[in-house]
Amino acid sequence: MAKLWAGRFSKTTDETVNDFNSSIPFDNRLYPQDIEGSLVHSEMLARQGIITAADRDQIHSGLKEILQSMDAGEVEFDPAQYEDIHMCVEQLLTERIGQAGKRLHTGRSRNDQVALDMRLYVRQEILEVRDQVLHLIEVLTDVAEKNTATIMPGYTHLQRAQPVTFAYVLLAYVSMLKRDVRRLENTLDVLDECPLGSGALAGTTYDLDRHFTAEVLGFSQPCANAMDGVSDRDYCLEFLSDLSILMMHLSRLSEEVISWCSWEFKFIELDDAFSTGSSIMPQKKNPDICELIRGKTGRVYGDLMTLLTVMKGLPLAYDKDMQEDKECVFDAIDTVTMCLKVLPDMLSTMTVLTENMAAAGRKGFINATDCADYLTKKGMPFRDAYKLTGGLVARCIQEGRTLEQLTLKELRVESELFDESFYEAVDLLNAVKRRNTFGGPAPEQTEKQIAMARDFLQEHRKQDES
Ligand code: ARG
Repeated sequence: MAKLWAGRFSKTTDETVNDFNSSIPFDNRLYPQDIEGSLVHSEMLARQGIITAADRDQIHSGLKEILQSMDAGEVEFDPAQYEDIHMCVEQLLTERIGQAGKRLHTGRSRNDQVALDMRLYVRQEILEVRDQVLHLIEVLTDVAEKNTATIMPGYTHLQRAQPVTFAYVLLAYVSMLKRDVRRLENTLDVLDECPLGSGALAGTTYDLDRHFTAEVLGFSQPCANAMDGVSDRDYCLEFLSDLSILMMHLSRLSEEVISWCSWEFKFIELDDAFSTGSSIMPQKKNPDICELIRGKTGRVYGDLMTLLTVMKGLPLAYDKDMQEDKECVFDAIDTVTMCLKVLPDMLSTMTVLTENMAAAGRKGFINATDCADYLTKKGMPFRDAYKLTGGLVARCIQEGRTLEQLTLKELRVESELFDESFYEAVDLLNAVKRRNTFGGPAPEQTEKQIAMARDFLQEHRKQDES
C-alpha cells in the first residue's frame, strides 16, 4: 500500500524499515483520542470556512464509523499498512468517504496531532490512577478506624522504639498517598494547554481558531508557543515521576506487609485468596503480591529514566525520538493500575493479629522513653532520667524481665521519685494515649487523622462532579 507521503518518493519502504519505524503496534491504543481530536479539528475547519459543512459531515460520520469498528476490534493494526495510528485513521477515512477524507489534515501535522493525543490520553489516565489511589486511601482508613487502640511497637532502624498503634502506621501511608493525589492533580494542571493547531512546528497559514479547539477538547487555553506545543513532553515526565513516587510508597508498604506476615513478626495474616503457595514447601504461604509490587517499582523508575534520557538532547522541534515517549508511559500506567487494582482488596481482607502486635510491644522496652519521661516530669533532669532508665533496661535484659516487672522497692533503690503511678505511666496503652500531640498516635489524634482523610476523599471525589 502506498504511503500517505509517497509523492516525494520513487521507491517503496524497505520492510525492515516499516517494522522499525512503525508505532502502530503500540500507539493503536490512542485511537479514541486521535478520533476525538479529528472530530474537533474538522468541526473548527468548517466553522472557519476552511472546509465545507458537507465535507465536515462526511468526515464526522466516517470517523464515527471507524471508532465503532475499532471499538469492535475489527481493524487490524498492521505495521505493513499503517505507520502509526494517525495515518491509519486518515487512510481508513479516505477509503470510506473519498475526497472529503483527504481534507481532514488541512492545517494540521502529525506533530501537533500526536502531541494532542498523548495529552488527552495522559489526562484521562491521571484521573483513573487518582481514583484508584483515593480508593486505596479509603481502604487504609477503614482498616485504621478499627485499629486505633491496637498497640504495636513503632520502629526506627527496624529496632523496637516506642509504642504506637496499627492505625497510626497505616495513617502514615494515608498521608503519603494524599500527597500522591495532589501531585497527580498538579500534573493535570500543568498539562492543561492544548497543542492542536501548532502545526508541524511553525503554526499554520490557515486561519485556525485554536481557542475553539482548546475549549471543546476541555483545555483552559491553547499552548502559547507552537514550537513548544509540538515538542513538550514535560507532562509525561511529571506523570512518570508522580507514578514513580507513588510506586515508591506502595513498595514501602509492601515491604512492611512482607515483614508483618513473616513468622518473625506475625502481625497480620493475608487472606488465602491473596497469597501463594510453594511448589516444594507445603507449609509456605507467600506474600507474592507485595513482592511483585516492590519489584515492579523498578520498572516504573526505569520508565521515567527512559523518557528523561530520550528527551535530554533533542533539538527543537519534533524529532522521531519522541515516538519513544509512548511505550514507557503506557508501561508505567499499566503497571501502576495493575498494582492499585490488587492491593486494596489484599489489605481489606487481611487479618490483623492484634495479640501478636501487643506481645511484641511488651518485649523490647518500647516504654523506656516513658519511664524517663515519668522521672523527668517528677523533677529529674531528662539526661539523668535517661541514664537511670538505661541502667534499669540493662538490668532487665540481664535478668530476663521487663520494666513493669520491677518492684517498687527495686525501683526506689534507684530513685525516690518512683511511686505506684510508675506502673500506670509505663502501661503501653496509656503511653500511647499520652502521645496526644497533634499528628501523634494517641487514639484521639488518629481519630482526627481519620476524619481528615475522610474529608480529603470527599473533597477530591467532589471535584469529579463539578
Ligand atoms: N508516530 C509518531 C509519534 O508517535 C507520530 C508523529 C510523527 N511525525 C513525524 N514528523 N514523523 O511520534
